[in-house]
Amino acid sequence: MNTDLAKAKAQLEEVGYLAIETPKTLDFVKEINRLKKEKNAVILAHYYQEPEIQDIADYVGDSLGLSQVAATVEADIIVFAGVHFMAETAKILNPIKKVLLPDLKAGCSLAESCSAEDLASFKLDYPKHVVVTYVNASAGVKAHSDLVCTSSNAEKIIASIPKDQPIIFAPDKNLGAYINKQTGRDMVLWDGACVVHEAFSLDKLVALHLEHPDAKMIAHPESEGHILKIADYIGSTSGMIDYVKTNKSKKFIVATEAGILFKMQQEAPDKILIPAPVNEDNTCACSECGYMKMNTMQKLYLCLKHELPEVTVDEDIRKQALIPIERMLEISAK
Ligand code: 13P
Ligand code: SF4
Repeated sequence: MNTDLAKAKAQLEEVGYLAIETPKTLDFVKEINRLKKEKNAVILAHYYQEPEIQDIADYVGDSLGLSQVAATVEADIIVFAGVHFMAETAKILNPIKKVLLPDLKAGCSLAESCSAEDLASFKLDYPKHVVVTYVNASAGVKAHSDLVCTSSNAEKIIASIPKDQPIIFAPDKNLGAYINKQTGRDMVLWDGACVVHEAFSLDKLVALHLEHPDAKMIAHPESEGHILKIADYIGSTSGMIDYVKTNKSKKFIVATEAGILFKMQQEAPDKILIPAPVNEDNTCACSECGYMKMNTMQKLYLCLKHELPEVTVDEDIRKQALIPIERMLEISAK
């Protein structure tokens, strides 16, 4: 077992043992707030987190917003209530901070679809191409990339590259195909996808729209082309929230992870929000990210208390990965 894996396993075991010892009756809100102050820590949370985690966070946002905040955080500890690639991006941008992730197993199907080694050998077939990587990827993959993008700025990042420059886009084929369509490019696409956004059922969505013809259909660009085709608005999680807030319509069918509905409803209390239906029948009749939902209040508390599990990045990889991320932040700010 390599040292990183052994370290992660030891961290998980330690937190696992501690979880068993933690009384369920503990006032997690009070304890987390106390520890946050005592340790000079901030909690950054993604919109897909459980409502109670969003409520206790110091900042809630999309991938771009979270990286921008992580880069400038002054606190000593960043607790990332999100998934591994997000915490890793925070560590790349702000290496002197201790970055904690409540559950190290909180991964991402997109990040897992593309290893650094596979991307490196894929690049050999396209020696003239530059590599643009969606932020949902490991530090190792970012280290092999020329530019990084998020769903908020993907079009802007691609538009910053000369038209005659060929591009490899990894790892999300759905976002890549959408950007190809929007920009008229012909990027070579990595064959990765988000399990959560590929779960939406077109048939059920069309039937739901017929039931609510006054509803606007909004979708995240990680969704498949046939879903995006019928959407009135396509954008990042922040973009979707802004659209619902500012659009005159009263009703919206929302095709992204259901955790977003909490913040969306807070920001637009007078709007009716309907989660887009999925192929498989499940209890919420919506799409939930099992990775995002691995974080719980108990794990958040334990993570702050024991300052574990910590996310670390090899320094050579970090320096390499920082270059395309900083390029993205610069282009985004223009
Ligand atoms: P956003 O950057 O739009 O929040 O997307 C992150 C993500 O993982 C979507 O599945
Ligand atoms: Fe990854 Fe999809 Fe979960 Fe986002 S929703 S973290 S892309 S698996």
